[in-house]
Amino acid sequence: RDLSSANTLGLPCVAEHFAAPESLAALQAALVEARRQGWPLTLLGGGSNLILPERLPGLVIRPAMARWWLEEGEGEAVRVHAEAGVVWHDLVMALAGRGLWGTENLALIPGSCGAAPIQNIGAYGVELCEVLEAVEVVSLADGGERWMTAEACAFAYRDSIFKGALDGQVVITRLVLRLSRTPRPRLGYGDLAERAGEQPTPLRVAEAVCAIRREKLPDPAVLGNAGSFFKNPVVAAVQAERLLALHPEMPHFPQPDGRVKLAAGWLIDQCGLKGWREGRFGVHERQALVLVHFGGGSAAELLTFAARVAGRVAERFGVELEREPRLAGERS
Ligand code: EPU
Repeated sequence: RDLSSANTLGLPCVAEHFAAPESLAALQAALVEARRQGWPLTLLGGGSNLILPERLPGLVIRPAMARWWLEEGEGEAVRVHAEAGVVWHDLVMALAGRGLWGTENLALIPGSCGAAPIQNIGAYGVELCEVLEAVEVVSLADGGERWMTAEACAFAYRDSIFKGALDGQVVITRLVLRLSRTPRPRLGYGDLAERAGEQPTPLRVAEAVCAIRREKLPDPAVLGNAGSFFKNPVVAAVQAERLLALHPEMPHFPQPDGRVKLAAGWLIDQCGLKGWREGRFGVHERQALVLVHFGGGSAAELLTFAARVAGRVAERFGVELEREPRLAGERS
């Protein structure tokens, strides 16, 4: 099975076996079969935060259960159930269209609902963990299903237990989100407030977010990419102070723990690397945090290119950049 169009970087990849189960029972059957055959397992969502090798041995599973529904509760809160295969952006727009607040800032993030908790997707001042109530997971070892509260997911910036202790242990099959009928606009980021207009609705905010993203971020259907290729680094306060003394204009965001988050895009940009291209990969010309694939390249070439970008930032600023998309088959 050719997966080159199943990853937004457009890297060539052939999977030995592939399944797209449309029900929990079909997923459980695929897991039983993999165990019987001794196949290693790889889970795939929208493939938008993933670096695929040229060959994936064993079974690749892409959950394709794709129903979602509202659970009307009392008061202003509304619960939303979304199965793993629902396209995240489609869900966001449907909820915004119903006037529900909570996910509108996360519009146009590529990928599936099942993948969203893994890296705790976030944009424009909101992270998934702020609206997520629970997730249903199925154990890869025995096919058993269970619920986990948001607290049990150990969410942090671009991180969760699914990248740590539960990496390779479970598949996320359903999300339960908690949205609000009462207006709760979150417009603190950049010029979002201006763009959302005087009477923001969830739909107006979502549309403003889409417009901002389209200006800066390349459309993976046109140019291969996995969004931000690096996390924004969080450094010690003394290091941030040292850098600020040299570069007073440097974007910086003090964290609750006293450390300071820097903008990796700014650091890369300052190294003069925006729009830099070498071979089949490059730094996006409008957002330096995004690496792009011009076609015909491989995962190994991409990692070499990324290491050179990170190396330049380390040399110039003494800041280590950490990769954001995951390597398929890799256990962190
Ligand atoms: N900047 C530059 N040059 C660049 C890019 C950024 O100077 O080439 C500066 C900007 O001017 C700004 C600062 O760096 O002062 C931050 O830039 P931006 O607002 O574009 O956001 P970001 O920190 O680069 C993060 C997320 C994005 C998310 C945006 C908006 C990470 C790793 N990335 O990017 O997420 O959309 O904020 O909230 O946290 C993703 O994860 O794939 C992603 C696109």
